[in-house]
Amino acid sequence: MVDRVTVTLTLNGERRRFEVPPGRRLLDLLRDDAGLTGTKEGCGAGECGACTVLLDGVPVTSCLVLAASADGREVVTVEGLGSGALHPFQEALVARGGVQCGFCTPGVAVTGAAALARGVTGAERTRLLAGNLCRCTGYAKILAALDDAAEAVDAPA
Ligand code: FES
Ligand code: FES
Repeated sequence: MVDRVTVTLTLNGERRRFEVPPGRRLLDLLRDDAGLTGTKEGCGAGECGACTVLLDGVPVTSCLVLAASADGREVVTVEGLGSGALHPFQEALVARGGVQCGFCTPGVAVTGAAALARGVTGAERTRLLAGNLCRCTGYAKILAALDDAAEAVDAPA
């Protein structure tokens, strides 16, 4: 029986290699093996979205993804969203007060950044963010921040 598998992935733009047990979750690889504790564990069951990361550009709940299945793929966590600075959506979340306890915020930021990258607007952006549970903000500020960020991204430099 295999007790370790090799996972080689591009993590926030950097090629990384890990030796992990076959059943290790991507969430645990990120937090415990890579030290990227921005990604949070809430429910551990795919319900809350706190653990959301981008896998090949698509938001996934990393508590439900086996680390081994990320082999050869690209993962972006909240730490990698802004390439050295805050992502426009993160800036807008701060400016709008869309962060209270902050526990949902990494997952919200990742999902929102993906929505912006895909040019998703209106009801579709609301539908996308429905998978990220926030018990504090009531979502109005989060959605307003996403609209602000969309305007900032679209605005001519
Ligand atoms: S911790 Fe993964 S969805 Fe809640
Ligand atoms: S800011 Fe507290 S859960 Fe969202």
